[in-house]
Amino acid sequence: MTEAQKTRVAVNGYGVIGKRVAAAVVQQPDMSLVGVSDVVTDWRARMVTRNGFPLFGATAEHAGAMRTAGLDVTGTLDELLGQADAVVDCTPKRIAAKNVEVYRRRGLKFILQGGEKHSATGHSFVAESNYSSALDREATRVVSCNTTSIVRTLTALKRAGLLQRARGTLLRRATDPWESHESGIMNTLVPEPEIPSHQGPDAQSVDPDLDVVTMAVKVPETLAHLHYWSIQMTRAASKDEVLNAFRTSSRIALINTGDGLVALNTVKELMADRGRPHDNLYEVALWADMLRVQGDELFYAYMVDNQAIVIPETIDAIRALTGTARAAHESIVRTNTALGIDTSLM
Ligand SMILES: NC(=O)c1ccc[n+]([C@@H]2O[C@H](COP(=O)([O-])OP(=O)(O)OC[C@H]3O[C@@H](n4cnc5c(N)ncnc54)[C@H](O)[C@@H]3O)[C@@H](O)[C@H]2O)c1
Repeated sequence: MTEAQKTRVAVNGYGVIGKRVAAAVVQQPDMSLVGVSDVVTDWRARMVTRNGFPLFGATAEHAGAMRTAGLDVTGTLDELLGQADAVVDCTPKRIAAKNVEVYRRRGLKFILQGGEKHSATGHSFVAESNYSSALDREATRVVSCNTTSIVRTLTALKRAGLLQRARGTLLRRATDPWESHESGIMNTLVPEPEIPSHQGPDAQSVDPDLDVVTMAVKVPETLAHLHYWSIQMTRAASKDEVLNAFRTSSRIALINTGDGLVALNTVKELMADRGRPHDNLYEVALWADMLRVQGDELFYAYMVDNQAIVIPETIDAIRALTGTARAAHESIVRTNTALGIDTSLM
């Protein structure tokens, strides 16, 4: 593929999600990263140019401040958008919604992240569930990390005809590691004040047919989320049938405590040993040996790397909006291959 044939992607906001999206775009043979925009002037912005990406200021003022700080600035967000076919907005919650009009005016395809409301784009995306409904749309929202994991796993059970009703308890990481000096909790657990927590209804914004209720609690660690699920199946099924249903997803990895993968930190260490950038675990890591079937009831637990799980979905969302892969599996295979996603993990 020549440079001219590639989809030109801009990333607005180079934080936890933006830096991973930018790196993933660079790994796609059919995409090019035209630049990254942000507002900061410290080490975080310096990493943009060090990684070889053109740096843009969100406004002329931000670009000016970056220059004053000695950064090599290419221009402003407006100029960056002028070079792009699609923009992935990875700015903090509620800022992205304000950028929507700017993207619309330019006729750009745009992707928001899970901090924004469904109504900001009118479409919420998880590749294995509803890729086709995002085809050629102006915009979509890649749902949050927790919601992505819920839709991936429940879609696999639904595809196998096993899913009737799902009830989940989510243990949520308190903050992201890089900013744990500023916020987070210690020596306590903080229940979300409402049942259901928002993730269940959010999953229904992707697939309204899911009968799902979630409860959530914030826990004092930063590595990843841990989910416990209790499923009412449509009928009695064997453990093998259930595992085979999960195996139909290319983004659910079955892991075993028997392999020493007994906690979140061990799985993250495995990703580090595999040489994944940022130790990213893109897959839902679901414990196969812990999974239990009791007649028509199913119980299981899995780990969600909140910083990484939405990255492959974001790449697929770019292809869906730009129509450069017409079928979900075509994009998913391309993304998985480029990012080294595989369900064995070892
Ligand atoms: N952190 C996670 O685990 C996680 C997981 C899934 C989805 N999300 C969602 O992804 C989005 C981004 O979250 P994050 O955790 O990466 O945030 P972040 O705070 O780590 O990064 C945001 C980046 O945007 C920059 N920024 C702030 N204002 C800006 C502006 N006006 N213009 C351009 N850049 C600006 C910040 O300097 C920062 O670099 C949110 O919608 C969030 O809900 C986050």
